[in-house]
Amino acid sequence: MHKCLLFSDLHITAPGETIIGLDPSARFSAALDQALRHHPDARQLLILGDLTHTGHPQEYARLRDLLTDCPVPVTATLGNHDDRAAYFSAFPGAARDANGFAQAALDIGPCRVLLLDTLDESGVHTRHAGYLCDARLDWLRARLAKAPDRPTLIAMHHPPVRTGFDGMDRIRLCNDAAFLALLRAHPQVRQLVCGHVHRAISGNHAGLAWSILKSPCHQMPMLLGADGSGHSVDEPGGYAIALLDAETMILHAEDVTPARPVGQSSHS
Ligand SMILES: [Fe+2]
Repeated sequence: MHKCLLFSDLHITAPGETIIGLDPSARFSAALDQALRHHPDARQLLILGDLTHTGHPQEYARLRDLLTDCPVPVTATLGNHDDRAAYFSAFPGAARDANGFAQAALDIGPCRVLLLDTLDESGVHTRHAGYLCDARLDWLRARLAKAPDRPTLIAMHHPPVRTGFDGMDRIRLCNDAAFLALLRAHPQVRQLVCGHVHRAISGNHAGLAWSILKSPCHQMPMLLGADGSGHSVDEPGGYAIALLDAETMILHAEDVTPARPVGQSSHS
């Protein structure tokens, strides 16, 4: 099977800045090291947005440093904490479509991965929610029409589905109905994978299998319903490994336990 590594919600900060006491760069580095050590045969590393915490150029520069020696090709898209212009100025060679969005179509073995850019910078919709404008939906429609026989994995930051975390559900993909209708019209779409929620979740929406990835850094606490908004907890970070072939798409969720200081027992 063909292997890809998937990360989301890195939230890279400027040097010295932490999130609930955690250093996102150290967390991402530890997760990336582990992933590359165990999976040197990965064909692609996909990052599903919230690359940085505030979209500041200094944060993208730091991410660029962290990815410099990555031996696996990296393809990224953006989330609500990103800034599209700052991203492309730090990564001028990054995948982007003809309209300037961080979207890409990757053929991996017999499968196709479509990365969608759900960052909404229009100021029209709910802050932090995702949106796919007509230009982005047209891009998706054309890519799906071009490869009807390739089993397709869709990767994007904002889930178009509810998760049971009310606060996150309010800032999911705004135009979820239009997007899901488009997917329904293309049965080669087998699986959807998203970030945004910072917790490993899987489900099924009207026959479409979906998964959400952990962040390598801070996680969403298990407070379903109205209590779940705006909290973060220091639980083990994670990433995912996708195994793809013509019939099967498998997503393994892998935790990364932060390294303990030297001398600290694992039983203490
Ligand atoms: Fe995030």
